[in-house]
Amino acid sequence: MRIPIIAGNWKMYKTHLEAVKLVQSLWYEVSDVSGVEVVVCPPFTALRSIQTVIGMDKMNFKLGAQDVYFEEEGAFTGEISPLMLKALHVDYVIVGHSERRQYFKESDQDVNKKVVAILAHGMRPIMCVGEPLEIREKGQAARYVEDQVVNCLQSVPEDRLGDMVIAYEPIWAIGTGRTASPEDANEMAGHIRRIVACIFSEPGFQKIRIQYGGSVKASNIKELMAGPEVDGVLVGGASLSADEFARIVRYRE
Ligand code: 13P
Repeated sequence: MRIPIIAGNWKMYKTHLEAVKLVQSLWYEVSDVSGVEVVVCPPFTALRSIQTVIGMDKMNFKLGAQDVYFEEEGAFTGEISPLMLKALHVDYVIVGHSERRQYFKESDQDVNKKVVAILAHGMRPIMCVGEPLEIREKGQAARYVEDQVVNCLQSVPEDRLGDMVIAYEPIWAIGTGRTASPEDANEMAGHIRRIVACIFSEPGFQKIRIQYGGSVKASNIKELMAGPEVDGVLVGGASLSADEFARIVRYRE
């Protein structure tokens, strides 16, 4: 049984004060929900505050970061290390988001180093993959995503697959209001799981969780989560509103 995982990627929104308000409003609305893992991923500057509030109010939320550098420490101005995140009780780290790949030129190799570093420090990667529109239109999405998954999972220990989350986020669906159909999302999630099954020998592929991301809203969450291969969602814009995100978390009602 894979526990559904609903993560909010707040991207570069919310000061630490706004972030505290948001997480408190969200908790007010979903504190009675069980059986779903909820992850909030604020910007780095809000991690400490959110960690404190989650701990103080015993909120059943996991803390996530939006990126990390793969070295433990050193002269890497502007970067944040896995050690620093672990010290803040960060549980999940998003890596390889298409915005990082596009604007900050991250390669699969960079993403792979980060995935390995996150696992080595006892945290759990939310590893993003997904194709641009022109690749989808050429019918090459499955192959494109396959390359990303294979490249980014190099040297991942088999016994840690249960700690891995892969988020399938087609680039054309991010922030566009255009969602992948539930059938396409489920099909790609199944495809990703089969790729993982080919790489690893133990049945760990049954444990890996696969999310869909891209214009997820309260109005489409139910049908997206109905796909048996879809274990959760990675939500951008809709996670910035406590009401909307709470409705997403309560998708089973
Ligand atoms: P939107 O939900 O705003 O489309 O963003 C998706 C995303 O990029 C989550 O990481």
